[in-house]
Amino acid sequence: MIDAECEAALCGLIAERLGIALQPHQLGRLHACCAEAFERFAVEDCGELCARLRSAPADDPVLAYLVRGVTVCESHFFRDARQMALLERELLPALIARRRAAGNLTLRLWSAGCSEGQELYTLLLLLHRLLPDAPAWNLHLLGTDINVNALHHAMEGCYREWSMRGVDEALRAAAFERLGEGVGARWRLRRERFPAQLRFQYLNLAEADYPSVFTGTIGQDLILCRNVFIYFERPTVRAILERFARALADDGALIVGACDHVPDGVPGLRLVAGEEAFHFRRDAAAAPPEAPPATLAGLPYVSPLVPPPPPSAPPAKASDTLGTLLREAHALAGEGRLEEAEAAARRAVAHDDMAPDGHFLLALVALERDQPRIAEGALRRVLLLDREHALGHYQLGVLRHQQGRAAAAAQALQRAREIIARRDPAAAVGEYGDGMTYGHLAELVSHQLELFDE
Ligand SMILES: C[S@@+](CC[C@H](N)C(=O)[O-])C[C@H]1O[C@@H](n2cnc3c(N)ncnc32)[C@H](O)[C@@H]1O
Repeated sequence: MIDAECEAALCGLIAERLGIALQPHQLGRLHACCAEAFERFAVEDCGELCARLRSAPADDPVLAYLVRGVTVCESHFFRDARQMALLERELLPALIARRRAAGNLTLRLWSAGCSEGQELYTLLLLLHRLLPDAPAWNLHLLGTDINVNALHHAMEGCYREWSMRGVDEALRAAAFERLGEGVGARWRLRRERFPAQLRFQYLNLAEADYPSVFTGTIGQDLILCRNVFIYFERPTVRAILERFARALADDGALIVGACDHVPDGVPGLRLVAGEEAFHFRRDAAAAPPEAPPATLAGLPYVSPLVPPPPPSAPPAKASDTLGTLLREAHALAGEGRLEEAEAAARRAVAHDDMAPDGHFLLALVALERDQPRIAEGALRRVLLLDREHALGHYQLGVLRHQQGRAAAAAQALQRAREIIARRDPAAAVGEYGDGMTYGHLAELVSHQLELFDE
């Protein structure tokens, strides 16, 4: 049992460590979760549990356990008929038409707080319904969550009947395979029938890791963040919305849960009220949301709203050329202008083939453009030039995992972990880690390793 004082201390620690503000109705879960934690982690009492939570490193299982305990992952396919109608009849057809008209068959969609993947797979199914020529498109679908268990399920893509309540018979037959019978029966999404680049990864929305090329969260055409804001205090919700505004492409849209409380007047977002459902549009005309303070000496924070150096800028001095090209490539990538970013990264590589960062940026852009072979080649080059390049090892791990090479992925991440362990946790990872610190990268690596541990 935990008393009121202990409950308050635990709530404070959860807010501090995870950014999650527990609401009164969630306290029952906290109590149940703590009762089990005492036994599971051989903790004597609440004071000891608090002490452990206070000092636990990011990869301490007690933290992951707590996240699992206090987050509710309830979700199902085609959740909220009105929002689904808005997506299927208005937002997605209009977006597809704009992209076709521009001759750019690329779409980037993000389910933030994706739980077990039902929301992201719903988007995948909707897109394939709307795109008769789907294989010709580059469909990037990103699902992120703080609950690693839920992400495991998402990657597996197998669901119980309860999650399938929005799926009619015809779609079940076309898109799912039934595994087992009776109450234990599960439905596996036949992903092979729906080509797209799908990525599930750990991301705590309360932290400032986005938008960033590094977390794949830039230039989004559509963000769904539904039924997640219940976990946050109002200032955190506002900060998250501001980051979403920067993560959206110019004509991008954001959908939050129909019952989510969202503040008015978030810079960069315009509320569009429809008859049945509302959404937000990126408002490019509005004053851009203030970017976070510079995190790297001499380098401005790069957000999709920070324009690249104008073409008329005076030519850089010879000694500055590499840095200028790298910054240009990074800024263009941050804006989602991937072809131009690739060209700039190639110019950087041509200028100095021995500088790892040129190859690293080339790899990041190739990952974004769904060019795994180019990405792998560039990452190998990075690691040949700098064996201690933590981000290089990390990205190689992510890439190998996407290719289904679990053992090789784990190996690359272990290597990243060894390198990070020798660095100052408060130091910035490098010029192109978008302000990420080694401490934070350690967290990402350990969560990713947990995800690989299938
Ligand atoms: C109720 S589910 C919503 C799932 C899906 N968006 C939907 O509407 O069906 C809420 C999800 O938010 C996730 N979540 C909670 N706090 C989070 C945070 N700080 N960062 C990222 N995800 C978080 C939970 O783990 C859970 O999977």
